[in-house]
Amino acid sequence: MTSQQLRSEFLNFFEKKGHKIVPSFSLLPTDPSVLFTTAGMQQFKEYFLGKKSPYGDKVASCQKCFRTSDIEEVGDDAHLTFLEMLGNFSFGGYFKEEAIKFAYEFLINNLQLPISQLTVTVFGGDNEVPRDEESVKIWEKLGFSEKNGNLRFCGRADNFWGPTGEEGPCGPTTEIHIRGIEVWNLVFNEYFQDKNKKLTPLKQKGVDTGMGLERLAMTAQDKSSVFEIDLFTPLTGMINNQDEKAKRIIADHIKGAVFLISEGILPSNVEQGYVLRRILRRAIQYGKSVDLTSLARKVVEIYEDIYPELKSRETDILSVIEKEKEKFGEALKIGINTTASEIAKGDLDGETAFRLYQSHGFPLELIKEEAKKAGRVVDEEGFYAAQKKHQEVSRAGAEKKFKGGLADDGAEAVKYHTATHLLLAALREVLGPEIYQKGSNITAERLRFDFNYPQKMTDGQIKEIETLVNQKIREDLLVEMKEMSKDKALKIAKVSFDPEKYGEVVKVYQIGDFSIELCGGPHVGRTSELGVFKIIKEESSSAGIRRIRAISLGHATSK
Ligand code: SER
Repeated sequence: MTSQQLRSEFLNFFEKKGHKIVPSFSLLPTDPSVLFTTAGMQQFKEYFLGKKSPYGDKVASCQKCFRTSDIEEVGDDAHLTFLEMLGNFSFGGYFKEEAIKFAYEFLINNLQLPISQLTVTVFGGDNEVPRDEESVKIWEKLGFSEKNGNLRFCGRADNFWGPTGEEGPCGPTTEIHIRGIEVWNLVFNEYFQDKNKKLTPLKQKGVDTGMGLERLAMTAQDKSSVFEIDLFTPLTGMINNQDEKAKRIIADHIKGAVFLISEGILPSNVEQGYVLRRILRRAIQYGKSVDLTSLARKVVEIYEDIYPELKSRETDILSVIEKEKEKFGEALKIGINTTASEIAKGDLDGETAFRLYQSHGFPLELIKEEAKKAGRVVDEEGFYAAQKKHQEVSRAGAEKKFKGGLADDGAEAVKYHTATHLLLAALREVLGPEIYQKGSNITAERLRFDFNYPQKMTDGQIKEIETLVNQKIREDLLVEMKEMSKDKALKIAKVSFDPEKYGEVVKVYQIGDFSIELCGGPHVGRTSELGVFKIIKEESSSAGIRRIRAISLGHATSK
């Protein structure tokens, strides 16, 4: 079966079992305490906690996921950064029995996998959460037991999942392994874990399952690695003269980069942008003689039917990759020179090596190569220790930020203020010049913007507006303030409020030639200071007035 057939077979199976099929959510989650969507359940988190699901209590999806935790693993047979996760979910509907039976039926009856290839694991219990006897009984009826050698017990690390982010639903899991590879994770959300890691039983029990499409395809297509399935061979086939591991890293990272850029992320030195930069530069470094642009095009071609956003943003995607290649080239030159002068002094200690990596984006592998040429050694352990220290510091910073404890609330709010001007101009361009601001509310975490429009915006319009705002952010437009007489200002600028409310001399803020508004400020100096703009909600505010909530992710541009 092709991956496409597996995707639809899975969704059809669960549709027939009464599940509503929900499209994949963005790779950028609305929960600001996590960088990426890493699991299918994330978009449903609140329905597990009792909020009424608009889709009913049984849903299924194929979710785009990006996992930074697996970057170093990429190259082996089973790990990827970008993956698609098939999942079925129940919010207070069915529980363990149905979930296990559905999984069994799908694999054995629909995919016709021989039962002898399957083994399962069950949560073995610890001092907080008891052993999952209920799952054991269900599995036993299906022919799985410790005695038969196809059921094992595992502890917290392996058979307990969640929560994503700082708090949320979580619970014991039972995992299905096919030919020894973990393929399907069935999570029984029985607990709520709070910020202090305290578990409280949930009133409503839920099921969250996740099965990596690529791993499923690997077993269904009888391959020994995910890189041999039909979602990868068109890519790996284009990469010549590389060893197998390099091929895999290049293919995985380019795919991941294409998907991240399609969501509006740009390479930078922080948060999502940093991850994108890291995988892109790693792909460039491994694939010096590889045509990455053609590879990126191929990724778009493989997935465009399922994720049309790839095709609509193809030009952006290719140009971001090209630009990063140029920047990396420049960084390498500087890196080689700086490394050479450090090496001239002697062996490289970990801190210095990490500094070269951190400030010049000069990878450890290359630092080692340069050092070797000069007969010097690099303290690798010291490098990793310095990296770990750095990660801890940035994580602490991120946690502080996400808790709202910003050192410069003012600065963040100012950025959002400028973003509202871009938003209004974009709304006018997409929906029509008759759009006016009807109110706004800005905090350090988000902006809320009200405007006149008679109906719900379509997903396409929302995307178009996001893209336009992000494009203007990337264009690095100058934000200029001019003071002028009200009469003159009213002739050239958009006015959202009653002109009577303004004094005789007014301030006008102009952003490139995209936006011009009467406004008291303050604003940023250039649009590149803003992060990636993301609309997280569009709803009715009152009759004829729509309300948009938007957030800014990371930092849009590189310095
Ligand atoms: N949330 C679980 C996982 O990601 C099951 O979907 O593995």
